Amino acid sequence: MKKQPLKSGEKILLTVFGAFFVLAMIGYVVLEAVRLTSDKPMFVQTTFFNLSEDGKLGHTLYKKYNCNACHRAMRMGTSMGLILDGIGSKYDAARLEAFLTNPEAVYGAVTIDHGPRKEAQFVERLPAEERRLLAVFLSDLKAVAGSSVAKVPPPERSEFVDNMVKSWAPADWKERFEDIREKDQESNSEAAP
Ligand code: HEC
Repeated sequence: MKKQPLKSGEKILLTVFGAFFVLAMIGYVVLEAVRLTSDKPMFVQTTFFNLSEDGKLGHTLYKKYNCNACHRAMRMGTSMGLILDGIGSKYDAARLEAFLTNPEAVYGAVTIDHGPRKEAQFVERLPAEERRLLAVFLSDLKAVAGSSVAKVPPPERSEFVDNMVKSWAPADWKERFEDIREKDQESNSEAAP
């Protein structure tokens, strides 16, 4: 059988795809070259973890019960549900344990997956000690103060935050809310190790 020459439309399509492919390869090579030679990390990590002994036991349970089917922790898992990295800078172990035990009461609202007759109901049925260890593990997942995952503001006064508050917060906000930037700086001084 005789080979058919390419039609001009086919040639154009192939050229366009070829150009995209070449550009992508060049982009990848340049990106990798920059990443490998730069001494600054390309993506700033704002979460970190330093597991305590109980935290390690909790991590084993976390893996055993496959919480990562819905969550993300220690930079692994899915991004479909809530990311738990940094959650230890928002809530302490007691609050986390209370959530795992009685999610709707702690949220004060209807939940999606935790709670009675839902997919993650097994969590509240775990032995209390396992829930405690899971909560300790989660409380070990910290975030750098001032990052988007942390509840705590940056340790130093931020001009950016001050300006945003001045422009956007209603005048009487201080009467209705607590200014966490003025709270004891002790709890705000969480820094990456
Ligand atoms: C079927 C999916 C699913 C599974 C499995 C699951 N979770 Fe969740 N989790 C959620 C969803 C959705 C929420 C948000 C609350 C809600 O609506 O249920 C949540 C919320 C949480 C929160 C509160 C987060 C916050 O910021 O308030 C914690 C803590 C948590 N899960 C821990 C766990 C642990 C530990 C496991 C494993 C033992 C687990 N989850 C398994 C779906 C899941």
